Amino acid sequence: MHRFACVRDYEEAARGRLRPDVWDFMAGGAGEEITLRDNTAAFGRVRVWPRVLTGVGHVDTTVELLGQVWSAPIGIAPMALHEMCHSDAEIATVRAATAVGLPTVLSAFSSVAVEDVTAASPHANVWQQVYIFKDRQVTASMAERAVVSGVRALVVTVDSPWMGRRHRDIRDGFRFPDGLRSANLSASLSQWADISDPVLHSRSAMDPSLTWTDVEWLAGLTGLPLVVKGILAPDDAERALEAGADAIIVSNHGARQLDRTTAALDALPDVAAVARAGGVPVLLDGGVRSGTDVLIAMALGAAAVLVGRPVLYGLAVAGEAGVHGVLTLLVDELRDAMGLTGCSVTPQVGPELIAPAGLFHP
Ligand code: FNR
Repeated sequence: MHRFACVRDYEEAARGRLRPDVWDFMAGGAGEEITLRDNTAAFGRVRVWPRVLTGVGHVDTTVELLGQVWSAPIGIAPMALHEMCHSDAEIATVRAATAVGLPTVLSAFSSVAVEDVTAASPHANVWQQVYIFKDRQVTASMAERAVVSGVRALVVTVDSPWMGRRHRDIRDGFRFPDGLRSANLSASLSQWADISDPVLHSRSAMDPSLTWTDVEWLAGLTGLPLVVKGILAPDDAERALEAGADAIIVSNHGARQLDRTTAALDALPDVAAVARAGGVPVLLDGGVRSGTDVLIAMALGAAAVLVGRPVLYGLAVAGEAGVHGVLTLLVDELRDAMGLTGCSVTPQVGPELIAPAGLFHP
C-alpha cells in the first residue's frame, strides 16, 4: 500500500510491525471485547443529516477549550509507554501533535519524562495525566513537575482502582518488552522502575480505596485546570463537578477496564447535559476513528475528542511522520465532514446534524 486513506490503513500497517503480544496489549480490550467493538460500532449506528447551501467556502476547525486554542477538537489520549511502538516514543508523538496544533495528554506511565517531552517541543500543549497513587506524594510530585514543565492541565483518571482483565494479555502472558521503563515514575519512585508485569504493577501502585475526597485534594493542589477522565454516568459527572473538575472526559478507558460497560458515545449525551448545566466542557474518548466520528461526538455534546490507539498505529508505522499523518488525516476528514454538513465553524456543529431515529435503519 502506498497511501493511507483512513485510520484503518494505519492499523493494518502497524499490526505487521509490532510483536504480536505488544499488538494485543495495545489493540485489545477487557474480557470478550464486546465494549471494545461497541465503542466503534456506536459511531456506526449514528447517521448525520447535512444542511446545504450554507456557504462553506472556508471551513475553520479551530476550537477554544479551557482558554486554549486547538487547531481542531482533537487531542491525544494518555497512553502508557509509547516506546513500545517506536524508539522516539512520546518525543515523536508530541512533536507531531504540536506541528498540527493539537494537544497531547502525557500518560503517568510515559516512557519519556515530562521535562524531556516539553524541552523537545517548547511550544507544545501538553496535559499531564496522573493517577492518585497509594503513595499520594508520588502524585503530588508528578503534578508539581508538570507545573514546572509548563504543562497546561492535569488529567486525573478515575476509572482504574486496578487494571481490567484482558484476555489477550492473560493468554499471551504479557510482559512489557525488556528495557522499557516508565520514566515519569521512576524519577519519583525507584521501586516502580520494574513495570514488566502490568497487572502486578497496577496492583502495587493503584489505590482502590480512592473516593471523590481524593479528587478534591488534587483539585486544590496546583493552579492547573483539573480534568476528570473516566466518567460514564451522569451522577458521577455531578460528583466530579462538586469535587472541582474544570472539564470531564467521558471514557471507558478504551474498553480496557470492564467489558460490557456502555460505549463511550452512548454515555455522552447524558453526561454532556450535566456538564453543560455546570458550565464545564465535556470531552470523549473511545472509538474515534474518523473525522466524521469527531463531528458526531461534537453534535452529541462533546467540545472535543481524544484519540488513543490510532496515534500509536501512526507511531508504529513511521514515528513522528506517522503520528503527523494520522492527525492530519483526522483534521482533514473533520473539515470534509463539517463542510459537507454545512458547517463552516465548530460552534455550528450541533444536535440538528444527527438524523432522528426512524429516518434510517442501522
Ligand atoms: C490507554 N489508556 C490509558 N488511559 C489513562 O488514563 N492512562 C494510561 O496510562 C493509559 N494507557 C493506555 C495504554 C494503551 C496502550 C491504550 C490503548 C490505552 C486509555 C486511553 O487514554 C483512552 O481512554 C483510550 O485509548 C481511548 O480509546 P481509543 O481511541 O483507543 O479507542
